[in-house]
Amino acid sequence: MLTEKDFITTTYNSIESASFEWSAPSNIALVKYWGKKENQIPANPSISFTLNNCKTITKLEVIKKSETNDFSFDLLFEGKPKEDFKPKIQKFFERIEKYCPFLKEYHFKIDTQNTFPHSSGIASSASGMAALAMNIMSLEKAINPTISDDYFYSKASFLARLGSGSACRSIKGEVVVWGNHAEINGSSDLFGVEFSEIHQNFKNYQDTILLVDKGEKQVSSTVGHDLMHNHPYAERRFAQAHENLSQIKAILSSGNVAEFIKIVESEALTLHAMMMTSMPYFILMKPNTLEIINKIWKFRNETQIPVCFTLDAGANVHVLYPENVKENVLQFIQDELVGYCQNGQYICDEIGNGANQLK
Ligand code: PMV
Repeated sequence: MLTEKDFITTTYNSIESASFEWSAPSNIALVKYWGKKENQIPANPSISFTLNNCKTITKLEVIKKSETNDFSFDLLFEGKPKEDFKPKIQKFFERIEKYCPFLKEYHFKIDTQNTFPHSSGIASSASGMAALAMNIMSLEKAINPTISDDYFYSKASFLARLGSGSACRSIKGEVVVWGNHAEINGSSDLFGVEFSEIHQNFKNYQDTILLVDKGEKQVSSTVGHDLMHNHPYAERRFAQAHENLSQIKAILSSGNVAEFIKIVESEALTLHAMMMTSMPYFILMKPNTLEIINKIWKFRNETQIPVCFTLDAGANVHVLYPENVKENVLQFIQDELVGYCQNGQYICDEIGNGANQLK
């Protein structure tokens, strides 16, 4: 089992220049991560579906430089310099330097773009940090070719976690667990691990993301996680996440979609209940979020089609359903839900595999 010390690189060569390119997807949690300890250690384990279409594509060019006092990088977003993203990258480099001591030896040109609209309310930090972490691991591999594939992906997830917690679940595998859990072999607080005992019923599971509110987040996830310190229900919530993960593990393996729906919807509402009961308290759902939830419940009751919802830290609704009911559900979305989306916008996605090397 890899420990924190294993990720500190000590021996490596040097290269003059290189370029790499990776895509990494977003992910949607089924059992939610909300609350963290020092160094991006989660307060409870979580599990997510990796998405396929909502991705960040990041190109990294590295050039050896002579002075090694500071980090040096240019940042382009969709081809244009983006100064306001730079502090986040600077902080990321500072956090990972201990594990990648070669960073100050190079100048980086980071060129990044998303496949989904920028202000869609879809968190780009998970896919963005995952794509950057993959590129940094490609550099590490170039200067230390002996590292194994397993180490490469585990460390990429470890680095991505230090950028944005949930990003560690966007590296590899269709379903990923992050955080120690007694019943999941190899699970770790330090990086995500692939969960592979998936029943056919959950293969190609669909996620249609209804864009209810594309505005800037009212509350950053950093602030949200912090509010779980001294939260009156925190300890019970963290224990519940362990219980729900035990249950969903069995459900994903046995293919019980009806039980899956119960856990997933309860987790989404619990996440928002934690926000509503923190101090200060806040509500990230919008009236249309609730309209959509009620419509989904009504449709499910009337048709017995196993469609359900989940939410992340915002107003958008992720509509989850098996591939074999895709046609019916898309028709339902068109007929009854599109009217609740901002400018009628939604994104069709499904389970994917994780990061991909493009160059
Ligand atoms: O990765 P962060 O710090 O942005 O936190 C994400 C938290 C949720 O999206 C609300 C839940 C989750 O597990 O992804």
